[in-house]
Amino acid sequence: MARKLGLLREGVALWSRGWRQRKAWEPHHTRCRAIIAEVAAALPRRRRAVVLGSGPVRDIPLEALCASFDEVVLVDIVHLPLVRLKLWRQAKVSLLSRDLTGAMAWLAGEADDRQDPLADLIADDSVDLVISANLLSQLAWPLADWLEANPARAAALPENLPARCIAWHLADLARFKGHICLISDVEMVERDRDGAIHDRLDLTYGVALPKEDESWLWPVAPFGEAQRDREYVHRVCAWRRFGRE
Ligand SMILES: C[S@@+](CC[C@H](N)C(=O)[O-])C[C@H]1O[C@@H](n2cnc3c(N)ncnc32)[C@H](O)[C@@H]1O
Repeated sequence: MARKLGLLREGVALWSRGWRQRKAWEPHHTRCRAIIAEVAAALPRRRRAVVLGSGPVRDIPLEALCASFDEVVLVDIVHLPLVRLKLWRQAKVSLLSRDLTGAMAWLAGEADDRQDPLADLIADDSVDLVISANLLSQLAWPLADWLEANPARAAALPENLPARCIAWHLADLARFKGHICLISDVEMVERDRDGAIHDRLDLTYGVALPKEDESWLWPVAPFGEAQRDREYVHRVCAWRRFGRE
């Protein structure tokens, strides 16, 4: 199902776009890493850290986490071979492949409802830090695209599944006993070279989020990446202590 949703292709595309746009993306990555490192350093106990949406591990201060935690668990639906290769020597790191929407088996007609994707980790009392790392928006749009392309299957499923995926993830995070740090893009803006806005997209599908601690802009597709005269900029928000406001 992950393959049908194009998530393997997306994983490779993310890797190569991140490489092409490494200069434009670096301030975003640096800021994410700094926030996570600060949050981690302030914790009284550092046994297990769980990173949700670890992907190419560019926005995660992995060395700092490995230096201060007993174990770091990286969770993603796809761990690219390049990532596996980079991490195989990191004794403290383990990789978990998991669908964090919990809905893919349902979409495929292999389950009657959503599966709880994080039950085992939530039950684990040694998880002192959970980081949702630029994952939230990604849980919704591949599913929305797939539902649009598969109207017969979509008709048999609840109407607002993409928004539900966002809401489920927020509810899943809130169930952890450890500290939660949430970082996600929440809005996409399409601009021309004069700065005029041509489109705005709510990446959270209308799901309400608490007031963020901080936010910044991430030039996901600068001019020339997706279109010559258009840039696509995402607004990213961080909640250093999600669910405990
Ligand atoms: C923008 S990337 C996150 C970047 C990453 N944190 C980093 O350090 O570079 C979003 C990640 O979400 C993952 N993802 C998308 N849908 C998912 C799902 N249903 N379950 C788990 N992971 C998913 C993608 O594979 C991708 O690695």
